Order: sequence, then structure tokens, then C-alpha cells
Amino acid sequence: MPVKTLISDEYLKKRMSDFEPGKAGNSKDIREGVIKESDETTHFNVLDKDGNAVSVTTTLNGGYGCRTVVAGAGFLLNNEMDDFSVKPGVPNMFGAVGQEANAIAPGKRMLSSMTPTIVLKNNQPWIIVGTPGGTTIPTSVYQTIVDIIDFNMTANDAVNLPKFHHQWLPDELYVEKGFNENVIEELKQMGYKIVMRSDIGRTEVIMVMPDRTIDAVADHRGDDAAVGY
Ligand code: DON
Repeated sequence: MPVKTLISDEYLKKRMSDFEPGKAGNSKDIREGVIKESDETTHFNVLDKDGNAVSVTTTLNGGYGCRTVVAGAGFLLNNEMDDFSVKPGVPNMFGAVGQEANAIAPGKRMLSSMTPTIVLKNNQPWIIVGTPGGTTIPTSVYQTIVDIIDFNMTANDAVNLPKFHHQWLPDELYVEKGFNENVIEELKQMGYKIVMRSDIGRTEVIMVMPDRTIDAVADHRGDDAAVGY
């Protein structure tokens, strides 16, 4: 239960926003609140004092996976089979379109997008990065790396500024709220079909700076955290 959200001032203010004292409400208009929950993939990075790094993405795939809890063990099984292709050309729940190579059969490969990444510099971990987000995962990880390396952004900007995403099919370019309006206009002129969408990923970065200090960034899109010890 997302108790923290349910008792937060922000959430309660939203729930009370259409309340008018002295006037009866209409029960039909009273619906459940909307609580932002993760889509059941988790990413975390760890860097230890000796400079060893791990980047881990783990997934149930869809919400509650295949909705089966292992008796006695208490964890859910995933429904990652959805990343195989049930039939060539038929999209999975993330709209990813697979072919024969992704069939549910021995020797075939699923269309997993999970991209836990460690960028090395001088053979040492430099940028440790990853995110949940289904098909948007590689796009988020790639944009973050390019923004840091090629556009000299801070890790914080690379993670938190609005992102965009295209996945071949559907032929649409997704952009997050707050994306530069002029760029959107230029892209439209070029013929892109722009679709505004909610959060793209929840990217986490640990970056080892030139003076060996650590810059750790947790995406502000979620309830993520960065901690040191
Ligand atoms: O392996 C994959 O690409 C998907 N099963 C990941 C699903 C995912 O990230 C859902 N949540 N955000």
C-alpha cells in the first residue's frame, strides 16, 4: 500500500479539490484516486569503496507479473514470456513487434529491452546507469550517456531533463511534458508524428568524477533515492 502517498498533503489536497462545503456531491463523479506506481521493473546501481560497480535491472514485466506467488517463498513470478512474439508482426504489451526469431520456441530470443550499463574509462567504471521503462529503456540509457559524454551535461540534467522515445512501431515520436517546444515544432515540420506522454523511464546514474568524488543521481520522476556511506 502506498501509505506515504495516501497520507501526503499533496494527494489529500488533490482529493479534496472538488469538495464544496454545503453542497451535496454526485456519487457517480466520485472515483478512486490515481496513484503513481512503478510498472514493476526495478533498477539499481552500486559502487563500492574499491571502485567495483554493479548495474542491475530486474523485472516482473507487467504489473504483478503472472500474478502467481511462489508458495512459501513469497515472491511473484514474472510474465516475461510477453517479450517473446506470439505471432510475427503482433506487438507485445509494450508495442514491440517481434518476428520468427522471437517466437516462443527453443533457441529463440525474447525482445527484452533491459539495459543495465557500465561505461568504462581507462578500464575503470565511470558511468553506471540503467532504468525501468519497457521499450523506452535503451532510449533512456542511450540519451543519458550521450547527454553526459557528447553534450557535457551534468548527470543530474542528463537524467532529469525531458526525454524523447521512438521504437520503430508504432511510427510515433514520444516526448515528455516540458520538452522544448521549438524542437517539437521543427520535428513536426520534418514529418514526425509527435505524441506527448508521461514519464519516460526512471534513470539512475552513479558517475565517478575526475577527482574520484561520486555524483549519484536518482530520477525525480519516481520515489527513487541516491545514498552514500
Ligand atoms: O525486458 C523487458 O524489456 C521488459 N520486460 C521490461 C519491462 C519493464 O521495464 C516494465 N516497467 N517499467
